[in-house]
Amino acid sequence: MVNRYYITTPIYYVNASPHIGHSYTTTAADTLARFMRQRLGRENVWFLTGTDEHGQKIQRAAQELGISAEDFVDRMSQEFRQLWERLSISYNDFIRTTEPRHISCVQRVLELLHAKSEIYLAQYSGWYCTPCETFWTESQITSQGCPECGRPVEMISETNYFLRLKEHQKWLIEYIENHPDFVKPDFRRNEVLSFLKMNELSDLCISRPKERLEWGIPIPFASGHVTYVWFDALINYISAVGFFDKNNRYVSNWWQSDTVLVHLVGKDILRQHAIYWPIILHALDIELPEKMTIFAHGWWLMHQAKMSKSRGNVVAPLEMVERFGVDTYRYFLLRDVPFGLDGNFSEDSIIKRHNDDLANDLGNLVQRTLTMVEKYFGGVIPSVEIGNFKYDSNGELIKSKLGESLKGILDRHLGFDSDFNFSSALQDIWEVINLANKYIEEVKPWNLARENKIKELGFFIRLLVELILQVADCISPFMPATSDCIIQQFSQATVKKGSPLFPRLERR
Ligand code: MSP
Repeated sequence: MVNRYYITTPIYYVNASPHIGHSYTTTAADTLARFMRQRLGRENVWFLTGTDEHGQKIQRAAQELGISAEDFVDRMSQEFRQLWERLSISYNDFIRTTEPRHISCVQRVLELLHAKSEIYLAQYSGWYCTPCETFWTESQITSQGCPECGRPVEMISETNYFLRLKEHQKWLIEYIENHPDFVKPDFRRNEVLSFLKMNELSDLCISRPKERLEWGIPIPFASGHVTYVWFDALINYISAVGFFDKNNRYVSNWWQSDTVLVHLVGKDILRQHAIYWPIILHALDIELPEKMTIFAHGWWLMHQAKMSKSRGNVVAPLEMVERFGVDTYRYFLLRDVPFGLDGNFSEDSIIKRHNDDLANDLGNLVQRTLTMVEKYFGGVIPSVEIGNFKYDSNGELIKSKLGESLKGILDRHLGFDSDFNFSSALQDIWEVINLANKYIEEVKPWNLARENKIKELGFFIRLLVELILQVADCISPFMPATSDCIIQQFSQATVKKGSPLFPRLERR
């Protein structure tokens, strides 16, 4: 039995403004958190997000603006918070890596690992890419330089601290093999496993000399060094929810063997999460929760290509929300592409989803039903038991779906053992919505009214209202405002038609 659910997003780099990728992971996490709160109760779900505020890129971005790094990160972190507010993100905690609670935890981790010789000092030479803040080996660099960004690399030689990885490699392979849900989706798990089996891990350089980088967490036992931003960043998942006691044991309500822990990440940062992170935990003797999942989702592309500032095709979530509305944007992100795969972004596809699925299917069903309650029953929803009535075939089908409860759809697609298939969950809910629309066409309630079959009409409308209320409950994790609005409209003493939930959008 699951008691508690702890879900995280990556902490986002504040070197630039939030874009669609950030809003994607966060909206998915928010939807899962809301769904789990429905199941387990608010107090048993913890949803963490935050900002990653150290590193060279950030130091440089602040310099370019001629402001201090502190002022820069305050400003940028605030931008993320404001976006989350606008996107109805219901996080429980927002961690910033410049906060004292995080810094002291990272420093404690460094000391503990150093004392256990999991961290050691060594001379290191390698090809360094400054924009990516990454060292590459001779065999990794390409004719242009950095294998990741294609920019020139430089040979750097310096003394640094390293985290032992090799020593934990066998353990990690076995761990992943014994925990089929540790990395999802399956094809990503296979990638991680085969990478681990085919390559010996090189130890991870986790420090930077202060001359090269000031904007980082000082290493307590090495005054000339700060920690590498990735090492610092991963630790947010424990620094935010717990602490090390005097016996050096990590203590947290949200980090127990029976907690379900879900880290949602993009596919580009899977390796750090599936390899470095469990190794850091293992080196610290922190037990991994039995049900821990790192889920790597795909990327949003523009015309099949990566979005980037230099291409000038970055999608700004705030603009999308202003133009299409929060719930349309949230729905689109989670419906258009199966979680885990890449998707193509275009405004036309948002408009199509809005007009077809939201305005036509859902909006119309709600509007038609409200209209019928108003027109045939003076705005009072008929209080009859749908179980007492024998419907025709589609009506019986709807009745039996309601009897089983539509929530089962969410359990199947978003539950603990699922693949977080938001898109299929919505698709299945929409099947029911469309079944109801079809049923209205079939029954032709206006004929029932003309023939004065008030009893039939009452049962018919009651069935639709119950279905709509269950649908509203199911979509609430995805589209909280829409769900509230529907429930609100049907809770009035006298129900009125009102204005459409999703006015149709025209293409620009
Ligand atoms: N700071 C690190 C994460 C540290 S977590 C301990 C980081 N930050 S990031 O801001 O660069 O990226 C955050 C997330 O945005 C990643 O999960 C990444 O996959 C996601 N995306 C960035 N661009 C994206 C798209 N175009 N589409 C979907 N998600 C993408 O990495």
